Amino acid sequence: MKKKILFVCLGNICRSPSAEAVMKEYISINQLESAMVCDSAGTSGWHIGDLADNRMRKHAAKRNYKLESIARQFDPEKDFDAFDLIIGMDAQNLIDLRALARNKTDLQKLKLMTNYCTRHSNYDSVPDPYYGGDEGFELVLDILEDACEGLLKELQ
Ligand code: 4NP
Repeated sequence: MKKKILFVCLGNICRSPSAEAVMKEYISINQLESAMVCDSAGTSGWHIGDLADNRMRKHAAKRNYKLESIARQFDPEKDFDAFDLIIGMDAQNLIDLRALARNKTDLQKLKLMTNYCTRHSNYDSVPDPYYGGDEGFELVLDILEDACEGLLKELQ
């Protein structure tokens, strides 16, 4: 069975679409398309229909990641059933997702992205880059590359 992974942040325009793009690149490099699939969503509906943030896309493009996803809001009625792993970027994302869980099965699908890191083990969240500068967007990508490597290893 294909593992279905959903990355979740607040707006679905910075961190989770980047996580999706990094993971899709790793899936492609490792020819794992038949084993896993991923998507992303936001806990808020603030940016529904938007492309990822221009700054995030610019920094991601420098590392050859294409951010093509369109922002959508997490839908508890569909997404808890459609995905095996639902991975929040920070503690507040997980608080918000937990509040939407319908049962124990839903709760067991919820994970924290930084728990998959091996090199950035001093971070307990992927910091929200929205109100910061260039270095915040680079840090997001550094942490996500580390976490996606760990996630890939765990799933294989
Ligand atoms: P994201 O970043 O959750 O990584 O997509 C944010 C995007 C937008 C806002 C906050 C964080 N906002 O306040 O609109």
